[in-house]
Amino acid sequence: MENQERKKRVFSGIQPSGDLTLGSYMGAIKNWVAMQDEYDCVYCIVDMHAITVRQNPADLRRRALEQLAQYLACGLDPEKSILFVQSHVPQHAELGWILGCYTQFGELSRMTQFKQKSQQHADNITAGLFTYPVLMAADILLYQADFVPVGEDQRQHVELCRDIAQRFNGVYSDTFVLPEAFIPRVDQGARVMSLGNPLNKMSKSDPEGCVNLMDPPEVIQRKFKRAVTDSETSVRYDKENKPGVSNLLTIYCAATGKSLEEAEAAFAGQGYGVFKPAVGDAVIELLRPIREEAARLMKDKAHLESVYREGAQRAGRVAQRTLDKVHRKVGFIAR
Ligand code: TYM
Repeated sequence: MENQERKKRVFSGIQPSGDLTLGSYMGAIKNWVAMQDEYDCVYCIVDMHAITVRQNPADLRRRALEQLAQYLACGLDPEKSILFVQSHVPQHAELGWILGCYTQFGELSRMTQFKQKSQQHADNITAGLFTYPVLMAADILLYQADFVPVGEDQRQHVELCRDIAQRFNGVYSDTFVLPEAFIPRVDQGARVMSLGNPLNKMSKSDPEGCVNLMDPPEVIQRKFKRAVTDSETSVRYDKENKPGVSNLLTIYCAATGKSLEEAEAAFAGQGYGVFKPAVGDAVIELLRPIREEAARLMKDKAHLESVYREGAQRAGRVAQRTLDKVHRKVGFIAR
């Protein structure tokens, strides 16, 4: 009975390791907003994940607050969803430790993101970078999440989280809900690619290939006009042979809600000189209200503080219930 009445739960988070990008918006936040009415949603600013690579403390603090303002500006609503900062809820670190004792070294060694990041930061491959997916599993499992809305690049981490949960449940009887990744369709932004190199995903570490939610219109337009395409002239989706144009089509569709067929038809017979600025315009219009609202919210620090404080209290209560259960199962003496 209780289960029938309980809304399914959703958990997701983004690292404040750079400004929010169009990739994160299309791959994740757009779905977060859409899921708020139907599900019980918990959304986090994962600052503890961000310190797995070196951060400037003042920048990290500023970006975490800006990220909250941008979450709200995108349409996340603290009346509907729990919005909080990971380091404010110590249960994440506590469950992370326990789950680390149920995760294999070999499993973590196979994580693509670890392999990539340890190449990028070859002089600082920390234990935290290695165990990062365990903390991510703790984030999700603490809230007994059914769905995890993320971009395609996070699928492997959610799969590992499921494996850890299944293993723990197998040893101690049902403890955790097994979560499922919730990923947009490819043509709706599951994997937005870099504008400068469409074979790499759009990421904060590649400023020219990356559009930030807070970029002003002229910067967005410049980035799209410079976007790498190919030597043909036709605007057509062909991921293998035309990765740049296909990426721009995807962005256009995700920004306007049009289908690929509609977009191809709209640009039939037109060259890239028309197509690229049109994609830029669509993104400018998509982001304009978000940028303006986030700038307004940043002036109201008291409101932002009250949102993250209240969010941490609500999150902490849910998280503690799971943690108590886990402590009992593994055999810790009750406090
Ligand atoms: P992060 O901070 O790198 O990215 C945030 C979210 O944005 C998605 N994303 C993209 N989607 C499509 N195209 C892109 N170019 C693109 N770039 C980023 C990511 O898939 C992600 O959904 N480990 C996570 C953060 C995390 C988390 C969690 C997520 C920590 N704990 C628990 C879900 C649940 C990460 O590094 O995301």
